Amino acid sequence: MKRKPESFEESYVKEELFWNSFEESDPPWNFIFRDTVDSTNDVAKELAEGGEQEITVVWAEAQTKGRGRMGRAWLSEPHENILLSLLLRPKIPKERIYSITAALSLSVVMAVESMYGLKSRVKWPNDVILNGKKLAGVLTEVSLKGNSPEYVIAGVGINANWSPVEELIYPATCIALETGKRVQREQVAVKVLKQFELLYGLIREKRYEEVLSKWVKKADFFGKEVTINLDGRSIQGVPIGLAPNGSLIMEEKGGGRLSIHYGDMRC
Ligand code: BTN
Repeated sequence: MKRKPESFEESYVKEELFWNSFEESDPPWNFIFRDTVDSTNDVAKELAEGGEQEITVVWAEAQTKGRGRMGRAWLSEPHENILLSLLLRPKIPKERIYSITAALSLSVVMAVESMYGLKSRVKWPNDVILNGKKLAGVLTEVSLKGNSPEYVIAGVGINANWSPVEELIYPATCIALETGKRVQREQVAVKVLKQFELLYGLIREKRYEEVLSKWVKKADFFGKEVTINLDGRSIQGVPIGLAPNGSLIMEEKGGGRLSIHYGDMRC
């Protein structure tokens, strides 16, 4: 049999690690590995529309149209980072969908802390920040049927071995830059997904508040002055809590209390 050159073979992810790590999972996990796609969220969406069951993970080595929140691009070099999307079909009210975004960003924080001792933090609504720079982002997209999701696609991009150099909306970093060593992407991804499996278990049991309070404990912006940019406006104030639906509760500089559903936070 003709063998691929070693460097090529090594740059692809070891799929067995995923299958082996989730062999016993209930509900069962399914993995789909692709080379280059437009966006793993779009592939997961197509699968969802075609009736694919949860829990399906779509992994890609590269994206040509990777996207973040608010129509922004998500950049990554091929084979360097973690680009994946989870297809989920949670039986939860739509007001609780944010707990999935929280669970996924929290899973990244917990995984990189346990593997590398790196103390990253969650930033509302969907970021993971390490030493003031963006390490990962979550993009959650939903198809609703009445008051509940028909499916939820939760995509996560984790900068493992590469991060954009130019300052986009926020400076970025990657695990390799912070530790000085290249990262085995599949090991990090499996750790993140294992954490997520536990937290998703809580969500399936309707224990949303537990997930949100774990997320709050890994945030460091509560009680500090921040600016939220939304729709061309900027709001200054102090975040004091998270509503059950994931809205940020802020005390405004002028004195009033606000509940903010979306926006970009600057700490
Ligand atoms: C953000 O920070 O705004 C969210 C970034 C989410 C990026 C991931 S990469 C895998 C998945 N596919 C996409 O197109 N986006 C998400």
